[in-house]
Amino acid sequence: MYRPFVFMKFDIITIFPEIFASWSKESLIARAQKKKLLKIKAHNLRKWAKDRHKTVDDRPFGGGLGMVLKVEPIFKAVQKLKGRSRTPSKRKVILFTPRGKKFNQKMAYKFSKLEQMILICGRYEGVDERVAKHIADEKVSIGDYDLMGGEVAAMIVMETVARLIPGVIGKPQLLKERITKSRGFIEYPQYTRPEVFDPGKGKKKWRAPKVLLSGHHKKIDARRQKLGKVIE
Ligand code: 6GU
Repeated sequence: MYRPFVFMKFDIITIFPEIFASWSKESLIARAQKKKLLKIKAHNLRKWAKDRHKTVDDRPFGGGLGMVLKVEPIFKAVQKLKGRSRTPSKRKVILFTPRGKKFNQKMAYKFSKLEQMILICGRYEGVDERVAKHIADEKVSIGDYDLMGGEVAAMIVMETVARLIPGVIGKPQLLKERITKSRGFIEYPQYTRPEVFDPGKGKKKWRAPKVLLSGHHKKIDARRQKLGKVIE
């Protein structure tokens, strides 16, 4: 079978590279890497620290609590990871920050066309603003709440983008069914056996909707359209 060669490299810059180890070794993400559809590499920011203590953070100018990630190690890391081989238009440097643009499926579609994403994970009380201003192509947040760092945000973005890369999940013809006429896809409630689940004595049984077992495809489809959420 003909399959176009698609390859996405995710380069993560983090002070906790181990956070990504088990996630990237499991399930479909692992399979996609074996199939050479994508590659995930977490780089320890400390590799680019210049002193022997491997310092990557410092106290904020103007005072205040906590520490700030320094610009220099991040600058060096990004320069190194950009390399020379890839087309600049096919790569993006992303900074994860709660002040970034809120991540959604549309952004994921755009990102899935790239060949390389360099993902900078903030930590501590923040990242020197010159990273946002001069190094990052885009600033991304995953929602209006405060995390301890960008690592979990990076995983969310990578997982959302990865599943849009052809060949990463399932068979295309099986997925087509859930793709709406316009764009995007529909997420509807699903059931599987048993048809009736008994949660214990004295409790009402949990039934799967009868229409799904009726074989009446028009009705099944109508139910899914009605209850589903379209993700653009
Ligand atoms: Cl991307 N980073 C941090 N530190 N907090 C967040 C976030 C990112 N998105 C929402 N909250």
